[in-house]
Amino acid sequence: MSHRRNSLRRAHITGWGMAVPERVLTNGDLATMVDTTDDWIRQRTGIGERRIVGEGETTFTLALQAARSALEVAYLDPASLDLIIVASVTPDYAFPATACLLQDALGAPKAAAFDLSAGCSGFIYALSIAANLLGAGTYDNALVVGAETLSRITDWTDRSTCVLFGDGAGAVVLQAGQAPGGVLASVLGSDGSGGELLILPAGGSAQPATVQTVTSRQHFIRMEGQQVFRFASRIMPEAARQVLQRAGRTVDEVALFIPHQANDRILQAAARGLGVPEERLFSNLARYGNTSAASIPIALCEAIEQGLIKRDDLICCVGFGAGLTWGAAAIQWSVPLPAAVPRRRMRVWRWLRYRLTQLRSRWRRLWRRLDAWLSGFLHRRNGP
Ligand code: COA
Repeated sequence: MSHRRNSLRRAHITGWGMAVPERVLTNGDLATMVDTTDDWIRQRTGIGERRIVGEGETTFTLALQAARSALEVAYLDPASLDLIIVASVTPDYAFPATACLLQDALGAPKAAAFDLSAGCSGFIYALSIAANLLGAGTYDNALVVGAETLSRITDWTDRSTCVLFGDGAGAVVLQAGQAPGGVLASVLGSDGSGGELLILPAGGSAQPATVQTVTSRQHFIRMEGQQVFRFASRIMPEAARQVLQRAGRTVDEVALFIPHQANDRILQAAARGLGVPEERLFSNLARYGNTSAASIPIALCEAIEQGLIKRDDLICCVGFGAGLTWGAAAIQWSVPLPAAVPRRRMRVWRWLRYRLTQLRSRWRRLWRRLDAWLSGFLHRRNGP
């Protein structure tokens, strides 16, 4: 870890990518599973369908896809990454961190890697931490991922929650540079007194898995919808205003707000609170539902794809979630758009590189087993 302190260093988003599972679950499908209707879900949430992982897909596999795309856009070799943060409430395992699985699969030998749990605010938390480490001169290149498979902790018999959530991943590459713009400011907040409003009750040290926790469905999301709704409607405009003030900017200067995608009515309330037309808040809720920590980076990718962001635009990402937590980031877009499409040669090289990384990882695992076997053998032969 090197320290290059420089007050002019800023973190710039230079790469972005997203991944969603192929399988689509529509409101019509849900109506065959629980007592609900397409009308109710659309009117109360704005959601029309969501993506759900299939067999063999996990938070890691989605994160890997999104991360590879982001690195490709940034033209950055994974070996140059200093830091990988995966924000998720549905990591593959409690440990090892999904970020470590990613570090291995990408081939990022010098990267520090950890997961971050801040509910749906996780991506903003991770972005803020990475941007600050880059700005401080600790690191040069970071990968920040928001990835979730909420379908794996959704109670598919509970109509008040199962209509809301979906799976997906989004990633950005952050690089330190002297150019103006990039991540200008961020604010993060929490209020643990509201922790029980949105909770996965069992599976942790408070309630380890038992037959009873399984039969009483404690391994699924529990939520007090109306209270979360009220909190979200208040905190979104508040956090956005705070971060803009910190960045020395105003609401009117923001070209596009990228809010956490939880409910269209929350976005409408946020737009009213900010005094801006709803069109200034990006929404893709209709197609993905709430993908928690993945929702903001997925929305960012789609906003870029739809040509809604231009170089030098001021954008404001704002989210809230379990904890309770909230966060916002003011970003001045500093790279040209659209991004250059990677050449075929580059794609082939990347493919080869990832195959090689896979082989290297297998070899390291094999070597570790051989090493353990050899030490055991010598120990038995020579005695302790
Ligand atoms: N289909 C049909 N009816 C449903 C339903 C569904 N999927 N879910 C709940 N209902 C019913 C309720 O049982 C209730 O019936 P009742 O009046 O007979 O008791 C009625 O609809 C109203 O329920 P209510 O909870 O008041 O609805 P709501 O307008 O508050 O909408 C949410 C519910 C969950 C959509 C809304 O509260 C919400 O979006 N909250 C925020 C959730 C969130 O963002 N969570 C993630 C945070 S990161």
